[in-house]
Amino acid sequence: MAIQWFPGHMNKAKKELEERLGSIDVVIEMLDARLPGSSANPMIARLARGKPALKVLNKQDLADPAATEQWLQWYRKQPGTQAIGLDASDSAPAQKLVAACRELAPNRGGIDKPLRVVICGIPNVGKSTLINSLMGKRIAKTGNEPGITKGQQRIMLADDIELFDTPGMLWPKIIVPQGGFNLAASGAVGRNALDEEEVVLELLLYLMKRYATELDARYKVGEIADLQDWQLLELIGKKRGAVLSGGRINIQKAAEIVLTDFRDGNIGRISLERPEEWAAWEKAAKEHEVLRAAQKENARLEREEKKKGVRK
Ligand code: G4P
Repeated sequence: MAIQWFPGHMNKAKKELEERLGSIDVVIEMLDARLPGSSANPMIARLARGKPALKVLNKQDLADPAATEQWLQWYRKQPGTQAIGLDASDSAPAQKLVAACRELAPNRGGIDKPLRVVICGIPNVGKSTLINSLMGKRIAKTGNEPGITKGQQRIMLADDIELFDTPGMLWPKIIVPQGGFNLAASGAVGRNALDEEEVVLELLLYLMKRYATELDARYKVGEIADLQDWQLLELIGKKRGAVLSGGRINIQKAAEIVLTDFRDGNIGRISLERPEEWAAWEKAAKEHEVLRAAQKENARLEREEKKKGVRK
């Protein structure tokens, strides 16, 4: 799968985050509630190992509430981890963050031991929207403090809780193919990174499995059990007037309609993965990686053997 990759930016972000983490008590990772597994950046978990973690499942207004509940339970079972659902309509996000952070770091707090928190997340999870809403409250500039860049903005979540934004950009790392499709469907991966039609067909396959009623309510497609994904896309195109001269379906247009509807929540509250699905995809991807590494190593050894043979 062709995915855009930005190693330069990532390395800079990684270094800066690593430096920052030294003086941080809680690491908040913002995730897209519709695709928590795919929108997580494994590098954050690796760098923050051992630090209390708060997973914020954002855009919960767009996600399937039952799936969000499953994800929250799943994260809360992990050691040193708390999880909350959130969306931009929440009038008091700071209170939720404060409560979760205090629970995660009960020994910090008070004026002489302020609780320091960093917030990170891949682009498009809604980090700027949340920060803007928090900034409306209280902002303080930083002075000379170890591990904290001078002049950097910090948000006072409470008198003794300081929130710092992640320096640099943390791009998603695509570790499982389904994750790539889900990130693209959500809009987190640029338009040119993946074939839009392929993304929509994957999206439709999942919706046909889990959200057939919602599909019918939106597109009046009737019974879809016997349809293939591409047949459904054509049917949606036809129903929506995405038709070219001669009556051919404009597939590109049909794909855009479905994608926009999904992103805007017009098909309903939809989640593209459940914890057990994500775990299975991840396991398969890791096994595939191990197999590929073994095949590569075998090929390398064979080449070396051949070289030795030629020399003899
Ligand atoms: P980022 O900093 O993590 O990259 O994300 P940002 O806040 O820019 O948000 C990305 C998009 O997601 C924005 O839409 C924003 O309005 C939307 N968004 C953020 N939080 C929520 C939420 O909780 N629920 C929903 N439904 N949407 C949310 P956009 O189309 O890119 O821009 P605009 O519509 O705000 O102009």
